[in-house]
Amino acid sequence: MKRSWMLGAATVGCVSGLLFGMVAQGQAEPKAQSGDVARGKTLFVRNCAGCHGPQGKGDGYRILGPDPANLTAPSTRKKSDADLLKTIHDGKPNMPAWKVLLSEKQSRDVLAYVRTLAK
Ligand code: HEC
Repeated sequence: MKRSWMLGAATVGCVSGLLFGMVAQGQAEPKAQSGDVARGKTLFVRNCAGCHGPQGKGDGYRILGPDPANLTAPSTRKKSDADLLKTIHDGKPNMPAWKVLLSEKQSRDVLAYVRTLAK
């Protein structure tokens, strides 16, 4: 008697776990890893185009010190996502650190947009 009750409870637990898993999966972003280009574009225009230029060619305003990178250049294209995300997060001389303003997800979105500029 007791044994069958436990089995029953285990089955219910399993089924609800499965259902929950399915619901959670259905709600997940389809491309959580690769970033959303449309969102990235909005973020880029707002935060990055001033220095990097509307097309990311590095033709925005310049201040003393290193010029804004040309994000369409082969040298940037060759760098890994991890490298560029680190620069976006931590900044460089003349490049602000964005980790305080952009979430991990937003950084990926903006990087996804930057990748479209290089083509
Ligand atoms: C105040 C000006 C400024 C703003 C705003 C700015 N950047 Fe930059 N960025 C720079 C400068 C200057 C460099 C080059 C630094 C260096 O080479 O030492 C750079 C470099 C980079 C690099 C590295 C390129 C490479 O080849 O390594 C990336 C990626 C980048 N910026 C992305 C962004 C993104 C994305 C934003 C907006 C969220 C942004 N930047 C906003 C000035 C800026």
